[in-house]
Amino acid sequence: MKPPVDSELAKSFLDIARRADETHQRLAPAIANWQKIADQFFKQYSSVLTKQRLDELERIASRSLAITASLKTIQDFERAKASLLGKGSELDSLVKQIAHLPVDQRKHVGAANNAVKALISTALQDAKSNIEIVDLESRLASERADVTLPVRLGGMADGRIHPVSQVFDEIAEIFADMGFRIAEGPDIETDDLNFTKLNIPAEHPARQMHDTFYLKTPNTAQGTNAAPFVLRTHTSPVQIRTMMSQKPPIRIIAPGRVYRMDSDATHTPMFHQIEGLVIDESTHFGHMKWCLEEFCKAFFEVDQVKMRFRASHFPFTEPSAEVDVGAEAIGKPGQWLEILGCGMVHPKVIANCGLDPEKYQGWAFGMGLDRITMLKYGIPDLRDMFAADLRWLRHYGFSAFDVPTLAGGMSG
Ligand code: PHE
Repeated sequence: MKPPVDSELAKSFLDIARRADETHQRLAPAIANWQKIADQFFKQYSSVLTKQRLDELERIASRSLAITASLKTIQDFERAKASLLGKGSELDSLVKQIAHLPVDQRKHVGAANNAVKALISTALQDAKSNIEIVDLESRLASERADVTLPVRLGGMADGRIHPVSQVFDEIAEIFADMGFRIAEGPDIETDDLNFTKLNIPAEHPARQMHDTFYLKTPNTAQGTNAAPFVLRTHTSPVQIRTMMSQKPPIRIIAPGRVYRMDSDATHTPMFHQIEGLVIDESTHFGHMKWCLEEFCKAFFEVDQVKMRFRASHFPFTEPSAEVDVGAEAIGKPGQWLEILGCGMVHPKVIANCGLDPEKYQGWAFGMGLDRITMLKYGIPDLRDMFAADLRWLRHYGFSAFDVPTLAGGMSG
């Protein structure tokens, strides 16, 4: 038997390569490689196999490779792999015939079958990688984004950021610049964190001031004495959560919903507060005054702001103060606007959180988010803020692109 210099197989390969070249340009080098493997095969087996068997293998190989070279999709590939190499394929039935051959032929025929099988597997893998590359290239070409096009607003233009969210972003931006992180706590709090650890023990009159929503106590395995849950009446429990889980120095602000049984023109049962807490070994009331003054100037976007600290009382701060801002800041001279409560964190509160009050001290404030939103943006009625009226939101809301920055302006 002659080596296959001008075998049918070699010719059909060239033909495959030519056709593949039109569709799957990249496959050409792989096809040349298949041919090299096939030539090798014939050199090896032409002297040991019958002409009939050689022709049979050549036919299978050439048909399989023609199919493989024309595969266009991964689904085509999966189907071809099953039909060319799987159970019931031509190669499979050739393998099954081996048992009926004379013993001296079995070894050669088996090895030849395997060699053709290996060739087809290699070809299928090449075709698969080729399909994946061609797919990727066509996706990259068709999904190309032109970054020079102007922004298309689409649905973004209809959506509105609620003024309270916008104001929170403004406040976060200002305090972030002073090194504060954002902390969070749950709306459903334990009585212990909302009151007791904040130095408001059971029967303390301050509990009545808060008109608390109590939740039914779940029946626990411990019996009926389990501490009740409340809808938090202020964001101050986040102070406790932070001091219990973090070592000083601490600098956080914590925004969130709070709840009190209260409803009239200036009160809604749900409203928003933002808490601030700073704890380290030496921070004092003066630092707090400076931070709050810087905050007010940045927030109201004025160079000068008048502030008044009135002595007050909160069980968790000592001394405590309520802070008013001169209404010049919002263009209404001659009045004072109350915006927040604050004070030095009570040593008992620091101790309740497992920190040493001899070593650590700090200050905290709590501000009504809705109130300062109304002041800054001239919103007349608190209740409208939570009425979910789209006309109101369209009027008072902000575009998603009005991102407040210190450099670019607070109001977007
Ligand atoms: N939690 C207080 C309130 O709801 C505000 C406050 C916070 C006062 C922190 C002092 C320090 O009224």
